[in-house]
Amino acid sequence: MSDLKITPKSIYLKRRSFIKNSFLGISSLSLSKFAQFSSFASQNDKPTSYEAITSYNNFYEFGTSKSDPKKNAFRLTTHPWSVEVGGLCRSPKTLDMDDIFKLNKIEERVYRFRCVEGWSMVIPWTGFSLRDFLLHFEPDDNARYVKFETLYRPEEMIGQKSNILDWPYVEGLRMDEAMHPLSFLSTGIYGESLLNQNGAPLRLVTPWKYGFKSIKSIVKISFERDMPLTSWVKSNPKEYGFYSNVNPDVDHPRWSQKTERRIGEWLRRKTLMYNGYGEEVNDLYKNMDLKKWF
Ligand code: MTE
Repeated sequence: MSDLKITPKSIYLKRRSFIKNSFLGISSLSLSKFAQFSSFASQNDKPTSYEAITSYNNFYEFGTSKSDPKKNAFRLTTHPWSVEVGGLCRSPKTLDMDDIFKLNKIEERVYRFRCVEGWSMVIPWTGFSLRDFLLHFEPDDNARYVKFETLYRPEEMIGQKSNILDWPYVEGLRMDEAMHPLSFLSTGIYGESLLNQNGAPLRLVTPWKYGFKSIKSIVKISFERDMPLTSWVKSNPKEYGFYSNVNPDVDHPRWSQKTERRIGEWLRRKTLMYNGYGEEVNDLYKNMDLKKWF
């Protein structure tokens, strides 16, 4: 982490107002067009405050209420930290965070973030492309899915002493989803290193999917032939699906998905298909029945 150059918050904010004036539309997606700083939100999406992003959290390893992660996550030791990458690939490796930073160019991306519970934020992430990261390990042709796992350390993660989920937290993506240019591994927010409550030191971000897909504090990534059984699907397959793409037309049994509460705003907003990233991700799902494959 030592040699990482991240933009101080003040410069970041100045740069952001410049970007706001010369808005990079979300339709400009292509690998070559990703600059060091890219906004994949619109002018109508003001970034949520750092305070809200770091104090209103879901991280069940630290408790189930929104304020628990901030209160309890200080117990998690994130130095040293290593991530094991393996499974169906030609160059499996275990890397520490310094190796990971050396391997990847850090960039900043502003994405909308939508939780299945019906709230949303706009988050300026720093990190790097998941695709670029995964290619270092040379996945085999028969790798069809990528599985991610969070740390299991109940002595530091007090929520893991309860059986609310089957620990460790597991998430997954289909290979083409993982290789999509929007898929991102984050190491920071607002140019600051990720705080523990947000999933330090490394978490996934897939902005067209509900927030629970964005697994935190990752220690293991593996290329798989079969669809991984993810934590929420395992705990309640009637309520949660593997894909979990944001879809205002498919309600969760307990929450309508038609609208959302943007944290920091009073009026609810209409939820957008794929959280507004349809132009970019439509093709991934063109032959699927989105009501069946939720
Ligand atoms: N990752 C782990 N390991 N454990 C969790 O409980 N919660 C998920 C996701 N990643 C979770 C997790 C859910 S439900 C959401 S909405 C987002 O993290 C919340 O991210 P945030 O707290 O940074 O907003």
